[in-house]
Amino acid sequence: MPDPLPQCYLNGEYLALRDARISPLDRGFLFGDSVYEVLPVFGGRMFLFQEHFDRLARSLHEIRLENPHTHAQWRGILEQLIARNGGSSDSYVYVQVSRGMEYGRNHAFPAVVNPTVFVMASPMPVFTDEQRATGLSAITVQDFRWGRCDIKSTSLLANVLMKQQAADAGASEALIVRDDQVLEGSSSSVFIVKGGVLITPPNSHRILPGTTRDAALSLATNVMPIEIRSLSLEELRAADEVWISAATRDVLPVTRVDGAPIGSGRPGPAWLRMADSFVQLRQQLADTPAR
Ligand code: PDD
Repeated sequence: MPDPLPQCYLNGEYLALRDARISPLDRGFLFGDSVYEVLPVFGGRMFLFQEHFDRLARSLHEIRLENPHTHAQWRGILEQLIARNGGSSDSYVYVQVSRGMEYGRNHAFPAVVNPTVFVMASPMPVFTDEQRATGLSAITVQDFRWGRCDIKSTSLLANVLMKQQAADAGASEALIVRDDQVLEGSSSSVFIVKGGVLITPPNSHRILPGTTRDAALSLATNVMPIEIRSLSLEELRAADEVWISAATRDVLPVTRVDGAPIGSGRPGPAWLRMADSFVQLRQQLADTPAR
């Protein structure tokens, strides 16, 4: 992963990321009592702002933490941060809101909450030509996360352990399976293509509602039939194509699962079409005049 960009935002101030400090009593640190968003930026323009900040608002509501900002205020904070980091690059913005700090350690909420708001930017990871030609590999793992994976919480220990298990196996992603159903990746949504049909599991408390997944589904409408339904492990292994999607990765092809090839073992034609659609979408966005 490339180094983050130098300027960040912390509780109302823009400052050098290297100088940013949060109390060790912050509940995000002590309890993972916080939620986050990751929003892609192409050519300095935010992609799917409304969707990401609607999801942030929902996560905050679900953990009973008041949203510290309106959408317009969030937009202003992010625009300013992007500008302070040079403006026009392809990057992603990380936004975290925790339930703040109190003096002591108490599981129940503090009487007075001053949320900690932290925003930083990083260059967008680059998907190399070689990765484009060969695709990624993934492993499958059994789900051992909590029961509210629809909340974009920073309590990500299970996801961290799963991703490391994938890395230890030389793979890029861990695809999470519960009761023989494939749910999502440790940090991505999942799709298969079978017989020309695009299939992805439905949103539930077991899945984060992916913004990139929704964008891909919109792009696929009128291009191929779509089924939003449970996806068995058997279907995953027998798929013609497997894709994962995330704000930092668009839609990427997975060509090996647990060491076995998917379909031809190369990125498939449906993914190539989808990748082209995303390139065009990003280009349109980057060409949009600044507001
Ligand atoms: N993660 N599912 C999980 C568990 C995720 O962590 C993510 C994204 C997604 C895809 O959501 P979206 O398309 O809205 O990014 C699905 C981010 C990128 C992260 O944790 O870094």
